[in-house]
Parts: sequence; structure tokens; C-alpha cells
Amino acid sequence: LTDTLPLSDGNAIPAIGYGTWQVTDDEQAVSAVKTAITAGYRHIDTAAYYGNEAAVGRAIAEALADNGLAREDLFVTTKLWNTRRGHDEALRAFDESARLLGLDYVDLYLIHWPANSRQHPEDWAEVNASTWSAFEELKAAGRVRSIGVSNFMPRHLQALLAGADEPPVVNQIELHPGFGQWQAAAASREAGLVVEAWSPLGSGTVLSDPVLAAVADETGRTPAQVALRWLLQQDVVVLPKSVTPERIVANAELFNFELSDEQMAAVSAIDDGLEHHDPDQVTF
Ligand code: A2P
Repeated sequence: LTDTLPLSDGNAIPAIGYGTWQVTDDEQAVSAVKTAITAGYRHIDTAAYYGNEAAVGRAIAEALADNGLAREDLFVTTKLWNTRRGHDEALRAFDESARLLGLDYVDLYLIHWPANSRQHPEDWAEVNASTWSAFEELKAAGRVRSIGVSNFMPRHLQALLAGADEPPVVNQIELHPGFGQWQAAAASREAGLVVEAWSPLGSGTVLSDPVLAAVADETGRTPAQVALRWLLQQDVVVLPKSVTPERIVANAELFNFELSDEQMAAVSAIDDGLEHHDPDQVTF
């Protein structure tokens, strides 16, 4: 679980992270994050919006002690929520997140969603630029090691890059079999960003897909492992979420098999048929 991808700012990001979206119960969050770290995950992904930063922080402190690990052994991501945009508010929100997590620094801080053209028809780009200036300050001050964005489509990314002193190093977007968003992924890569996948299992929905089941049979793995491996082979960081200990362990066993070109193509052709969020239409 030590495989990492290089970031353009000189840091490195572990390719497999434990995702904590929808892990809302405190006891469950503490127990799941501790299970993940003990199983070998070295990357934990949370967000102010998930409401679990305090529990995640407690789990991190306990798991580091239990496993004889140092803070530097772990890569921790959190995200700025949509109600806290703009320079000053972003700085305050970061302080709250860092305090809840109980961390002196965060490895990666992300703008959770771009300010969008529905909520900010006139000035969405300026709002994102103002938020970003706070992120650049947090990085310069050493409070965060790397800064990035999430759910940025090419138009949001291009506008941000045009005014940034320090470019984002990551774009975390929804990616899973059946939902490619490859334009956003390609635009991110062309600009030197690493792509991270949220809901890499389609929140569980794609796991019953017959193509995934067939490739799982061929490789002797689970559909979840196939979906995650398919992303890893495209140099995408995966952030699977599970509160089930056996699944937490199995979802990280991804380095002992490989998908053939044919298997990659078969998974790429899946269509999940689901409705997905348009970042310019979301109301939260
Ligand atoms: P649970 O947490 O009850 O184990 P995503 O990461 O795409 O958001 O997907 C998370 C969902 O997928 C959760 O409902 C989780 O259930 C389920 N899940 C996670 N890992 C597996 C797995 N290996 N097999 C089946 N379902 C899984």
C-alpha cells in the first residue's frame, strides 16, 4: 500500500486512500478509520461537509499510536465546504477543520465544489480565485502541504489556472465504471494535476454489473477490486469507502493482479445509466 503518484509540487500521494463520505456515525468512523490504517491504508480522505473530522482525527491519533506510526507516515486530505468560500472565510474554515482533526498540518486541502454559474452567475470565477488565494497562503505558511480542487470541470479549472500563482495539484472527481467524466480527467492531466476518484464503486451501484462480474470471475477477484484496479491502471487515485472490515481490507488488495487491455476496454464500455451531478447545477 505504499505505491504513490508524484504531485507537481514535489510531494507524493498514496494511490489508495480510505474515503470517509457517508461515514457519519462517530463510533463507526473511529472504528473504520482505525481498521483502514491498521490494514495498511496510509491515505485518509475526509471533508468538513462529512461532519466526521473530529472522529477521523481521533481515529488517526489512536491508530498512529497503536501501529507505531508517525504523523508523516500518513497522508490526510480535507475539503472546504461551499458555504465557506472566499479568502477570509476559507482561512477560518481551515482553522476549524485542522482543530477538529487535531492536526498541525493537512497533507492536501481541496475546494470541495467550484463556485458555480447557477449560484454565482456573474462572478463564479472571481469567487474561486479569492478562495484559492487563501489556499496559496495556507500552503506558504506550511499549514497544508498540497492544495487542489474537487469537482472542477475544464471551464472551472481553466479559469482558476489563469489567475493562480500556485497551480492545484489534484482534481478529485466522481469516476467509476460507467461514469467516465474523461474530459475533466483529461483536462486535469494536461494541466499537470493528478486525478482522484470519489465514489470509485459508484456508491456500490456498479458492483452488480455483469461485465464487472465476468472480469471478476476471469481474474479471481471481486467486482470491487476490478473497478478499483481499472482506475489505478489509469493512474487515478482511488478512495473507496466501506464500513465493513473485510471490505476495507479487500478494497486495498489491488497490487497483486493486473487487468489486460481487453479487460480494461470491457470495463470502460460499461454504462451505469445513472443521473450525475452537474457542478454548474448543484444547489448545495
Ligand atoms: P459498506 O460501507 O456497507 O461496506 P463508494 O466508495 O463508491 O462511495 O462506495 C461505497 C459503497 O460501496 C458503500 O455502500 C459500501 O458498503 C459499498 N462497498 C464498499 N466496498 C465494497 C465491496 N468490496 N463489495 C461490495 N460493496 C462494497
